[in-house]
Amino acid sequence: MKVLVTGHNGYIGAILMPMLRAEGFDVAGIDSDLYAACDFGGTPPEVPSTVKDVRDLTQADLTGYHAVLHLAGLSNDPLGNLNPELTSEINHRATVKLARLAKAAGVERFVFSSSCSNYGAGGNGMVRPAPPTHPERAQ
Ligand SMILES: NC(=O)c1ccc[n+]([C@@H]2O[C@H](COP(=O)([O-])OP(=O)(O)OC[C@H]3O[C@@H](n4cnc5c(N)ncnc54)[C@H](O)[C@@H]3O)[C@@H](O)[C@H]2O)c1
Repeated sequence: MKVLVTGHNGYIGAILMPMLRAEGFDVAGIDSDLYAACDFGGTPPEVPSTVKDVRDLTQADLTGYHAVLHLAGLSNDPLGNLNPELTSEINHRATVKLARLAKAAGVERFVFSSSCSNYGAGGNGMVRPAPPTHPERAQ
């Protein structure tokens, strides 16, 4: 099974890629390398990868994959707040476009790694994984 992981050089991707390979998946990654040369550990294992911004992906980049695991994005609130319009462009609009391109390319599975920040700050009460969501109230 061919799996494409976006943002594979990040915190989660660096752990996920070896796990997927160990399970026998044929993996490749696409990442804009925002954090190139910022690794703390050893050199990450070699995987087929492309340096590309998810905003620039085309249907051809996705053709032939059975699944897309979408990790690429500006992944925390302080970073997102530096330039909210850019964050929306990458995290929202490029994600919707990517999902549509994947569907058009015949990709069977699309996994979006969302965030519990969608539920907003819950105070001291329990927050249950159900609507309504309040991402604007995230801390
Ligand atoms: N780490 C967590 O605890 C956690 C928790 C909940 C949700 N998530 C979500 O999981 C996803 C991955 O999280 P992470 O912690 O690995 O983030 P990360 O910031 O460590 O990695 C994100 C990766 O995406 C890449 N990237 C950023 N913008 C890009 C673009 N425009 N095009 C291509 N690549 C781009 C970066 O270069 C980086 O390698 C994020 O969507 C995040 O919101 C993470």
